[in-house]
Amino acid sequence: MTAAVWGWSDRLVSKFEPMDETHKEFVSLCAALAVAHPDNESFLQSLDALIAHTEQHFEQENLWMREHSFPPLGCHQKEHDAVLELMQEVRRSIAAGDTELGARLAEELPHWFEHHVDTMDNMLARFMLSVTSETDGIAA
Ligand SMILES: [Fe+2]
Ligand SMILES: [Fe+2]
Repeated sequence: MTAAVWGWSDRLVSKFEPMDETHKEFVSLCAALAVAHPDNESFLQSLDALIAHTEQHFEQENLWMREHSFPPLGCHQKEHDAVLELMQEVRRSIAAGDTELGARLAEELPHWFEHHVDTMDNMLARFMLSVTSETDGIAA
């Protein structure tokens, strides 16, 4: 394999620590998927680990948005739902023998994620930082 493995970088830092922790894990699970061979059983295991993590990752962000009535909630959550649905669909295709889609998913996810961070998560992170700094003084 000659392609460089995707990894965590400063461009992904949101400065909202709970989000960055989850995103670091997402990046390393994506990197593990990219090096797994789509024809092997280990690819499905890597994809299952990524899907399980992503369900929690998105649910946490959805919860932050709901709890604080974050205005772009609908749009952000829709994007989460769409990518999760895509992952599950690809998982079903691989299990049915179409491994080509798995390779495409591993290739596309980093692009999708960088774009999602730029357009959605960074905005949520800034909002969460402002909300949490407002409540710092009254937190127990
Ligand atoms: Fe995220
Ligand atoms: Fe998000």
